[in-house]
Amino acid sequence: MAVRTFIVTGGAGFIGSNVAAELGRREPGARVVVVDSFRSGSFANIVEACARRGMGGFTGEVLPESSARVHWQFQVDRLKPAAVFHLGAITDTTVADEALMLHENVAGFAAMLAACQEARVPVVYASSAATYGTPPHAGRREAFPEAAAGQPSNVYGFSKWLMEQEHATFQGTYPRAHVVGLRYFNVFGPGESRKAHMASMIYQLTRQLLSGKAPRLFKDGTQSRDHVSVHDVVDCTIHASGVFGGCPKPGVYNLGSGVATSFNRVLEAVRGAIGVPESSLPTEYFEMPEAVRRFYQDFTLADMSRTAAGLGWRPAREPAEAIGEYARWLKEQG
Ligand SMILES: NC(=O)c1ccc[n+]([C@@H]2O[C@H](COP(=O)([O-])OP(=O)(O)OC[C@H]3O[C@@H](n4cnc5c(N)ncnc54)[C@H](O)[C@@H]3O)[C@@H](O)[C@H]2O)c1
Repeated sequence: MAVRTFIVTGGAGFIGSNVAAELGRREPGARVVVVDSFRSGSFANIVEACARRGMGGFTGEVLPESSARVHWQFQVDRLKPAAVFHLGAITDTTVADEALMLHENVAGFAAMLAACQEARVPVVYASSAATYGTPPHAGRREAFPEAAAGQPSNVYGFSKWLMEQEHATFQGTYPRAHVVGLRYFNVFGPGESRKAHMASMIYQLTRQLLSGKAPRLFKDGTQSRDHVSVHDVVDCTIHASGVFGGCPKPGVYNLGSGVATSFNRVLEAVRGAIGVPESSLPTEYFEMPEAVRRFYQDFTLADMSRTAAGLGWRPAREPAEAIGEYARWLKEQG
């Protein structure tokens, strides 16, 4: 088979670097082209993601550019990719500059879709559970079906929602185009250490415990999230392109574990894995500040039924187990 090329935007970030390295592992010799503005990403994420998979150095290409400014027609003609994985985005949900967020996360997406459609290149892009805001299902502690999204609580969620609208319009015009949007829920796992305050709660709590600090949770720790392992996220993202087999259907799908895990349960799994019991370092519960409360998602849970039916994919990892495994790994890293 001829050498295939894969484009990964956001490939220097947490999830993108894992996707880029996994593509190289699954198809040795493949050419992986990372497009990244390096706003929150780092070359070190790429190096480490390759090393974790026992690969030598990264042998691909890096375009240090925002996907909003890439000349997509030119790059698709030049690179002739087998698939584009579009994960590049401002991921700091506290960024208040709305024009910047919308420009970086949405501009260029329509041009990417058009260039890929012309060359029959599948596109998989990262959307987010932030497109839901707080749907009525949250109050009832029920899984979120895809149709419940559309009331995001911040401009980050709105930017992802706008991408989905571009996708819907595009898919209406080109029903055969292979475009898949994946609403990632709360992703955790190796490669997130450079996300600072945006790293997962699992990472934060493990680090607090390992450095001898009392873990801190909002009262009363029963808030629950759909925490999903980056290994499952990478697997589904690559699978959704269809370039490694299967018959995934275009559309927008949830990508979570399908399990809601409370922060108390997360902490219990972390404590168990790294051997720091409550008795040696008690949990500090504190009041949620009013400014946080207004936009806080108390409960998230992905309804994974359409993902199973449309993509033919199911998460393989049970969150509490995967959380423990990850915490142990963090401890080993020192
Ligand atoms: N981590 C999660 O829990 C989670 C949840 C929902 C959705 N997502 C989405 O998954 C994707 C990857 O997120 P992550 O957790 O790896 O975050 P990350 O911040 O580690 O990675 C994002 C990468 O995109 C780059 N970037 C920013 N704007 C860009 C642009 N316009 N063009 C090209 N590159 C750009 C950054 O430099 C960074 O390398 C993002 O689209 C994010 O919105 C992540």
